[in-house]
Amino acid sequence: MKSLIEIKAGHENACAEFVKTRDFGRAAEEAARAASVGFALAERTAGAVADAHTRDAEGWLELAEELKGRQSAVGSRQSAMGSGQSAVGSKQSAMGSRQSASDRRQAEEEGTAGDEEWLVAETPEVSFDDIAGMDEAKEALFDMIVHPMREPEKARMLKLKPGGGVLLYGPPGTGKTMFGKAIAHEIDAPFFYASGAQLRSKWHGESEQRLSRLIQAARSRPVAVLFLDEVDGLLPRRTGGSSVVDNRIVTQFLADIGGFRDSDNILLLLGATNKPWEIDEAVFRTGRFDEKIYIGLPDAAARSGLLEMHLAGLPLGEGFEMETWVARLDGYTGSDIVGVIHDAKRAALRRSVQTDGDPQIEMADLEQALKTIPASVTDRMLAQYERFRQQRFG
Ligand SMILES: Nc1ncnc2c1ncn2[C@@H]1O[C@H](COP(=O)(O)OP(=O)(O)OP(=O)(O)O)[C@@H](O)[C@H]1O
Ligand SMILES: [Mg+2]
Repeated sequence: MKSLIEIKAGHENACAEFVKTRDFGRAAEEAARAASVGFALAERTAGAVADAHTRDAEGWLELAEELKGRQSAVGSRQSAMGSGQSAVGSKQSAMGSRQSASDRRQAEEEGTAGDEEWLVAETPEVSFDDIAGMDEAKEALFDMIVHPMREPEKARMLKLKPGGGVLLYGPPGTGKTMFGKAIAHEIDAPFFYASGAQLRSKWHGESEQRLSRLIQAARSRPVAVLFLDEVDGLLPRRTGGSSVVDNRIVTQFLADIGGFRDSDNILLLLGATNKPWEIDEAVFRTGRFDEKIYIGLPDAAARSGLLEMHLAGLPLGEGFEMETWVARLDGYTGSDIVGVIHDAKRAALRRSVQTDGDPQIEMADLEQALKTIPASVTDRMLAQYERFRQQRFG
């Protein structure tokens, strides 16, 4: 079943489409529908979140009125055209098409067209239950983000404002991206996503405008999560030697994000990185990524959860000891563990094809997989994160 947020997004998109084709009448209807879903959202929420939904719905109502006005203007112009000579009519329609081209250009400049590829304005499927273990990180994220968003009245009584900036940092493959998506899922908010690498490579030369539009798009929603993945690539440290582009993108980001705590809408700025030392210092200052959470290697409980998740219901050989594997996988990241299990499954399949028997995963399959897949994170890397934490966030 579609959530109200999705239904509302559907009307908003339809409205934008009708505006593009200059069908203002139907655009007005869609805007009015977006408004009524917005009011329904306000009724289902409380406090600051409800207020934000109400203001947003009122905005859609105003837009609906304005679009109705434009429809009657177009209507009367068209009937005037109809009564004139055909030569005049064709000149006017030529003018009309030039006009719509310029409208389109303007829409593009405002970022309402062509952004679909990197703009994920919907709630992701991944939830906290899909993340094995990591209880400390989950608890911290619930305290900082989920509770204030879900219980805005209680948060208000404690003068806690929902939203804000949180940076997840730690070694590769530990579930940072997963956490970011799961948070958006838990608070049922539209989710705007950009990865540093993608933004930099794909939109080289205009990355800062793209980032700027993304931030504006997220801020135009009453409640939204803006997830900047691989922040290191997006907002690199500005040094004497860094490129003009790097300097520009960081400066633009600081300008766009500045003061998001004071604005009416609730924006949660989430970042993830495995190279926090490469990020520009200004990004960590108050009002941006205020909170930092280390996402490290999975502990025994998390490893056990991962094995459960990926081996539950599968044919395991006699004498397969889960506990042994929880211990053997110490030092491996979540992503490594998924890889090891995958390798073991392939080996079991290969054997069953060769022997023409039923497949079964044996301890030896995992043992063999461990030999070919080394742990991707070294002690030296872990020490680097620890040093960084003490120096910068300590
Ligand atoms: N705690 C976990 N529970 C379940 N799956 C996990 C966990 N940690 C990692 N994984 C698995 O590892 C994969 C990679 O995780 P993810 O992409 O979130 O890592 P990351 O920390 O963002 O890495 P990077 O720093 O390289 O971007 C996930 O798709 C998932 O399959
Ligand atoms: Mg990631």
